[in-house]
Order: sequence, then C-alpha cells, then structure tokens
Amino acid sequence: MRVDVVSIFPDYLAPLDLSLIGKAREDGLLDVRVHDLRDFTHDRHRTVDDTPYGGGAGMVMKPQPWAEALDHVLALDNPSGAKPHLVVPGPGGQPFSQALARRLALEPWLAFACGRYEGIDERVYEHARDDLGLEVSVVSLGDYVLNGGEVAVLAMVEAIGRLVPGVIGNAESLVEESHEDGLLEYPIYTKPSSWNGRDVPAVLLSGNHGAIAAWRHEQRLARTAARRPDLLHASHATGPDGVPVDITAATRGDVPELAVLLRACAAEEAVATGSLDVPALHEGLDEVSSALETSQTWLARSAGRLVGAVRTRRSPDAGDRWEISRLCVTPDLDGSGLDRQLLDHAEDTAPDGIRTLTLEVGAHRTDALKAYRKAGYRPADTPASRPGTVVLAKRRR
Ligand code: ADE
Repeated sequence: MRVDVVSIFPDYLAPLDLSLIGKAREDGLLDVRVHDLRDFTHDRHRTVDDTPYGGGAGMVMKPQPWAEALDHVLALDNPSGAKPHLVVPGPGGQPFSQALARRLALEPWLAFACGRYEGIDERVYEHARDDLGLEVSVVSLGDYVLNGGEVAVLAMVEAIGRLVPGVIGNAESLVEESHEDGLLEYPIYTKPSSWNGRDVPAVLLSGNHGAIAAWRHEQRLARTAARRPDLLHASHATGPDGVPVDITAATRGDVPELAVLLRACAAEEAVATGSLDVPALHEGLDEVSSALETSQTWLARSAGRLVGAVRTRRSPDAGDRWEISRLCVTPDLDGSGLDRQLLDHAEDTAPDGIRTLTLEVGAHRTDALKAYRKAGYRPADTPASRPGTVVLAKRRR
C-alpha cells in the first residue's frame, strides 16, 4: 500500500519509522512518503495560512499550497495506476472505526492532508473531488479537538497499516480483537499464575477449552456492557400504544432509577406473598450497582422511561447454568408482552456452553408461574435460595 502524508510538521510523522509499521516499510509492504506543505509556498515566509473571510477566530490554510502539494503527490511514480483516496483528518469528519480502517486498508493508495489552525479552505476539497477526481473523506478520531491532523494520521496509518496482508505475522490475532465483532476484548493473563496475591482465573488453567471459550465470551459481554453499552445491539419491542421499547445494557448512571423499579416490583411480590423475605426489597444503590459488575442487567425503556429490567449471569459455580433474575415490568405494562420480550432477551444473551436456563420465582405467584411454564420452564431439582420460592429450569435449545 502506498501512503502519502502532507503536513507542515513532517517530523511529527517520524514514529512511522518504528515498530510494526516501520518494519512493514522496510519489508516493502507499506510505501510511506511524508511531504512538507511549506515546500509548495512561494513567499519568503513560506506562508500557509491567512485570516478567514467573514471574520472569526484563528487562521485558515490557503488553497494554493495544498493544490500544488496534491499535484506533486499525484505526479509521483505510481505503480498501481490508481488515484489516491484523500483522507483529511478533522473533528468534523465521519468517525474513524475498525470498519472504516478495514475499508481503507483495501485501497492501493491513501493520501493524508494534515490540517492545522482552523482547517483548510473549503475549495481544496472541491478541487480534489471535482478537478482531480479523488475520493475525499474527512475523518475524525473522536469527539475532541486536536491541534492538527498529524496525531490522527499516526493513529489511522497504524490501524489501517496493520490490516494490510503480511504486516501482522499472525493473522489470527486480528480476528479476536476488540471491535472486530462489536464486542470488547476479554481480560488476558500470563505467567506467573499467582502474582502479588492475585490469581489468574481458575478456568484459564483448567485446560477445558469449551469452558475457557464460554468464560471469555461472558467477560466480553460484561465488559462491553460496563464500558461501551452503546456497542450492544438494542433490541426492539412494542410498548403501550405502539411506542417502541428499547432493551439496552444497564450502566452506573441507570442505578438510581433501576433501584426504584426493582423495589417497586419487590414490594408487589411482598404484598402478594405476605412476606418481606424478598431479596430485591432489601437491595440498595450499592447492591444494585455492584450487581452490574457480576451480572448483566438489561433495561427496557419506552420513550426514555424505564419500564422493565432483567438480570442474567452464569451460575457462580461456573457451570453450564444461566441464571435469570429480577425480571420486572412496570404495572402499566403488565400483560403487554414486555416480560416475555425481556425473558427472550435474557435467554438470547446466554453465551455458548450454557445448557440450562433457570429462574427463581415465588411459589404463590401463579400468574408468573403460568407465564414461565408457557415459555418452557419447569420446576427444577436445584434447591431454592429462600423459602417460599421455586427454581424453574429449561434446557437451552
Ligand atoms: N484534527 C483536530 N481534531 C481532530 C480529531 N478529533 N480527529 C481528527 N483530526 C483532528
């Protein structure tokens, strides 16, 4: 792959000589060329910027040096015969992502134009598209402002370059990475198995590849739910009056509202059974919050309002059982099908290796027992955790 970078600070790009990208350049897999924009100015001060028309703060990069720099890049030897895809880093661009890195890694030639100051005169983009026939993409590293495009180019060339065949020796290591399949990476450990009083999770030493794969998948789900819930697909149901209901992973910010909902459902159960021995009734903010670390909690929202929740986790004995608990729906949506929707979601998110799905339910809650029976659950041998409840189980399909 050919990469040209134009910048007023060519030295900023020196790290591209190092590490895997530097090695790929040595091996001829990446042909990276860095150009100084000031080489295309014609005044004594090598001026690249001027004041903005219409007023406003800061300076704007002049069009002429950019046009000449692009002509120079296009006129260089070009074995692929293609034109470069021009990438202009800027906070106003489309977000850079693994998917975009993959698309750009397929291009034979990328040219990066590093803006500084307030940015580049808009006519440069039009000229590149209309007169030079280049595909032009403005790409942002994230929702923050850097002083210029150079740092963004370093990040993008590294992310794109490592996807070029041959750059990473072990192509398999590219497969299980964060963002490749929409989930974050699982935690990793190396020797020694016990360090500073901290042990590597036992499952990783078990030699049981199925259990290891299941544990890793679960860790990926839990991490993604805790750190990047936006990556988890929302599933859609329909609430009252056809208002759509979104099911998403709970985060810390949801804890106060969630605690209130769980208390309300627990109070209903306490009234129905005449007993205050309902665990959710005694869960405060701390317990609800720490449960986010050890389980996945899913929330249903209708037009922003929290209308339901469900909690899931692998049984603490690390067996093949998926525990579903705290299934709770606001009273106005009783009978709307939302409880079944949440139950289906809880079942669908069970990782590979889970064979049994379980629920614990008040033995007097005949409506709930009937609904779970309809969903395929039957009384299980597993002892209940408290009096007055039964454990229901269903084999996973
Ligand atoms: N230049 C300035 N801010 C930027 C950002 N967030 N991403 C890419 N290039 C930039």
